[in-house]
Amino acid sequence: MNINSQKQITRDLKSGGRLVGNVQVPGDKSISHRALLFGAIAEGVTTIEGLLPAEDPISTASCLRAMGVEISNIEKNKRVEVHGVGLYGLKEPEEILNCGNSGTTMRLILGLLAGQPGHHFVLTGDSSLRRRPMKRVGQPLKLMGAQINGRSNGDLAPLSVAGQKLHGAVIGTPVASAQVKSAILLAALRAEGSTTVIEPAHSRDHSERMLKAFGAQIEIGGEMGRHINVRPGSTLRCQQVVVPGDISSAAFWLVGASLIPGSEITIENVGLNPTRTGILEVLKQMDAQIEILNPRDVAGEPVGDIHVKHKSLLRAFTINEEMIPRLVDEVPVLAVAGCFCQGESKITGAAELRVKETDRLAVMAKQLRAMGGNIIEKPDGLIIQGGHELHGTTLDSETDHRVAMSLAIASMLAKGNSSLKNSNASEVSYPDFWTDLEKLRN
Ligand code: S3P
Repeated sequence: MNINSQKQITRDLKSGGRLVGNVQVPGDKSISHRALLFGAIAEGVTTIEGLLPAEDPISTASCLRAMGVEISNIEKNKRVEVHGVGLYGLKEPEEILNCGNSGTTMRLILGLLAGQPGHHFVLTGDSSLRRRPMKRVGQPLKLMGAQINGRSNGDLAPLSVAGQKLHGAVIGTPVASAQVKSAILLAALRAEGSTTVIEPAHSRDHSERMLKAFGAQIEIGGEMGRHINVRPGSTLRCQQVVVPGDISSAAFWLVGASLIPGSEITIENVGLNPTRTGILEVLKQMDAQIEILNPRDVAGEPVGDIHVKHKSLLRAFTINEEMIPRLVDEVPVLAVAGCFCQGESKITGAAELRVKETDRLAVMAKQLRAMGGNIIEKPDGLIIQGGHELHGTTLDSETDHRVAMSLAIASMLAKGNSSLKNSNASEVSYPDFWTDLEKLRN
């Protein structure tokens, strides 16, 4: 059971204040999941510095523990050790694997388990995850010989996996999804023959980078690195992983400090992988005052500190389909930004947002409209008229972590106080969000 779904905390949100000072955002969620998963199927003890100590990676760790992987306690500022069992060492779990609220956990673990011959697995999650489409992973894995069943013709969890000996394949994915791609890559590690994944657009490439570091035979080719080939056969070797701060968590402060008069902050140690930095492109379009300091490489990922200063009269922006994979999780907070830019901001090609933890286009449009925002919802995006003052009101994250934190920024900018139902959804990816907000608020 997802810990988060047990409680529904309503929080009072004060209007006003500015954001000032330095902040370190927690470890990157995508990289944290992968470090746990790849460490689990490697030989030897993988150490992870900066692992995100939040509900989603904890769900991944508890599924892996149920399959016999020893993982040390996940706590803030504590190095985590994963005792790898090798590519063929996962045990058949005695219990249903509970993925909580985490789509990455469920999708990547499907890839891991599909090629585990003779073992049977059942995966489920909280009510949000049980509504999210899983056929996007099940279907390509079936092309490799997988047997995955579930509700709604195999699309919805609970899902059952009868592990099979898989064969390699050439698979074109219909959506640019790093979760789908990574599930196939994990399955490919143990398949017979080589596998190539061809994506419609380049999604985040943390799996490719990290699998290469662990010693997998992986090659990236094609236009914009959209063809990824894995040849099975090599054992993975344990690594020392260092997880940078999550740019998707930094996004709240990037937008907040850009918009809130008098703000000036530095966000330290943020991952700047080019497949994730779409938000910086949008802030540039807005003419926001952003500067990258100390760019460096840490354990195969680009990292830097980001200095942000408020600037008035920010310009409206356009986000199109091509940009979505680089900023998919930042659309909720960018919808808040649109309300305060000069003119009409447009987000298109974003239908994927409808199958996240909530339908994020619908939920953001509804919540921002309740505050007086002028937003038109389209099937694949939002049209936002800037310059309409927002007012404080009763808000609801509808249990979505990114919605909760985006509304926190909106309520600072609104006239009058707000209250936020299901504010604790933030624990899925940023457990100290409310403490950091109070530290930075001035
Ligand atoms: C993730 C990929 C993205 C993102 C999610 C994390 C990952 O989803 O929205 O929060 O770690 O691979 P999609 O790959 O489905 O777009």
